[in-house]
Amino acid sequence: MIKTPYGLQLLYGAEEIRRRVQELAREIRADFDGSKELLCVCVLKGAFMFFSDLVKHFGDNVTTAFIRLSSYRDGQKSAGGVRQVGRFAEPAAGKDILIVEDIVDSGFTLQYLIRYFKKRGAASVRSACFLDKPHNRAVKIKSDYTAFTLSENRFVVGYGLDYAQKYRNLPELYELKA
Ligand code: IMP
Ligand code: MG
Repeated sequence: MIKTPYGLQLLYGAEEIRRRVQELAREIRADFDGSKELLCVCVLKGAFMFFSDLVKHFGDNVTTAFIRLSSYRDGQKSAGGVRQVGRFAEPAAGKDILIVEDIVDSGFTLQYLIRYFKKRGAASVRSACFLDKPHNRAVKIKSDYTAFTLSENRFVVGYGLDYAQKYRNLPELYELKA
């Protein structure tokens, strides 16, 4: 692994991410054939880069929306609570929804989102997640589409993901070394 001047360790480079996201986008697109509108919901802030790269490959009959959530985290760990920041104004009833998330860690956030859109009468709810961190799972949940899975429990930054709002702008994914 490459040591960087940030004190971060590179996990996935920009080109590897680009290729994997493109591959995942094609897989998703093949399942949603484009005959019906697909509402892609970006979960802010962490998913903004993944979302932007993913939806570029979807082509026709796609709409986009943004939801902002805040999960109560104690340092690098989930404390279990999920709160919505602001109002989600987009009608969801009768729609096929793809939730686009950065990370599934404890699973509380994804569980909240799936329930949220089902309650609003979505026709179907699926999820695409950039990174699966299976080690801290507190609820039994799995994303329908996953770009990468961490084999060890790591705290990661870059490609939209932050630590104290920093590093989101980096095009690669890094492990944060304290
Ligand atoms: P969950 O509700 O515990 O599944 O947490 C999901 C949220 O926690 C993600 O959407 C991230 O915003 C944040 N998160 C979890 N692990 C990491 C990490 O390693 N780096 C940055 N953010 C993380
Ligand atoms: Mg998030």
